Amino acid sequence: MNVLVTGGAGYIGSHTCVELLNEGYGVVVIDNLCNANPKSLDRVRQITGKDLKFYEGDVRDEDLLRRIFAENEIGCVIHFAGLKAVGESVAIPWKYYDNNLNSTLVLTKVMGEVGMKDIIFSSSATVYTADNEMPLREDSRTGNCTNPYGWTKYMTEQILSGISYADKDWGVVLLRYFNPIGAHESGLIGEDPRGIPNNLMPYITQVAIGRREKLSVYGNDYDTHDGTGVRDYIHVVDLAKGHVAAVRYVAAHKGCEVFNLGTGVGYSVLDMVEAFRTVNNVALPYQIVDRRPGDIATCYADPAKSRQVLGWTAEHDLKDMCRDSWNWQSKNPMGYDS
Ligand code: NAD
Ligand code: WQD
Repeated sequence: MNVLVTGGAGYIGSHTCVELLNEGYGVVVIDNLCNANPKSLDRVRQITGKDLKFYEGDVRDEDLLRRIFAENEIGCVIHFAGLKAVGESVAIPWKYYDNNLNSTLVLTKVMGEVGMKDIIFSSSATVYTADNEMPLREDSRTGNCTNPYGWTKYMTEQILSGISYADKDWGVVLLRYFNPIGAHESGLIGEDPRGIPNNLMPYITQVAIGRREKLSVYGNDYDTHDGTGVRDYIHVVDLAKGHVAAVRYVAAHKGCEVFNLGTGVGYSVLDMVEAFRTVNNVALPYQIVDRRPGDIATCYADPAKSRQVLGWTAEHDLKDMCRDSWNWQSKNPMGYDS
């Protein structure tokens, strides 16, 4: 079966292409390269020894989508394509609503036309409200998002569940990712942010490689074991395997289901700094600075539903995540442009 992977040249998409090819699926990628380097797809070919098909273009381009469905027998869509920088979404909300919502609307319109109605969507733990008890379960409260990026994830969940409610032929899987980090063990693909990284692990690796002077730890007065923010970090290869499990699931189930993809374990920023230093034996200077607006103290998943229903569970631990993040960064100091 062929899987259409939107945003497949990106960080999570490229790792998912590897796992799909390894499991014998055909892969067709559409990506406009607004936040990716096409070398990632060559590396996917190199890792797997298999080919995939690539269309450079925008998911909002209806005619291109029709052509892709006409030229390839697609059996399932994984929809990664989207903009994801939280701060930018506050500064330029229209860009985020346009890209993230219209891509889904156009994609599902064309899928409806051609009668291919199985879709897996990249949602986020950001859809949960800040006042939930931990761990977060799929039925924990959602909404009250603190930024337009989060609202696009929340609204896309509403759009897809509404479509599947109205037409029982649709199979929709909403995957709520926690904090993906790490890289493929080959060190050939990994996260390659443009400009100053927003997220913790790429910032850490860029400090360790000497591209940035020191890490700023955003607050040490949270109600956590050491005062710094706690998150559920998940190895990107585990996350990618979660998508393969979802592809199998959606082939056999209609309707809309939501799953957390996390480990169920929370680590603080200082736990991450310590683990990264110890595992990789590198220096990692940091300073404590003010809290970052919009951050919460603690966020981690209850992954029980994914384990029970998808038969999926995260297998990599924090050591693996720190080792593989550093392996990618040290082999590619400037990312794909090294
Ligand atoms: P990424 O930026 O590396 O990948 C997204 C890809 O989509 C990029 O290759 C980009 O070029 C492409 N793209 C964006 N808009 C497009 C459009 N209109 N048409 C075609 N291609 C387009 O990001 P990622 O970390 O791999 O995230 C993948 C998805 O997972 C995103 O939807 C993101 O919001 C979601 N997500 C990511 C995280 C995270 O922490 N990385 C957490 C939760 C959810
Ligand atoms: C993790 C922890 C920071 C950077 C974001 C999005 C979320 C989802 C995943 C897409 C926090 C601290 C960070 C730094 C630091 N993305 N930190 N110094 O904020 O949990 O989630 O990415 O859906 O929507 O909001 O991840 O990696 O930015 O931060 O101290 O330079 O590290 O305060 O406690 P976050 P993150």
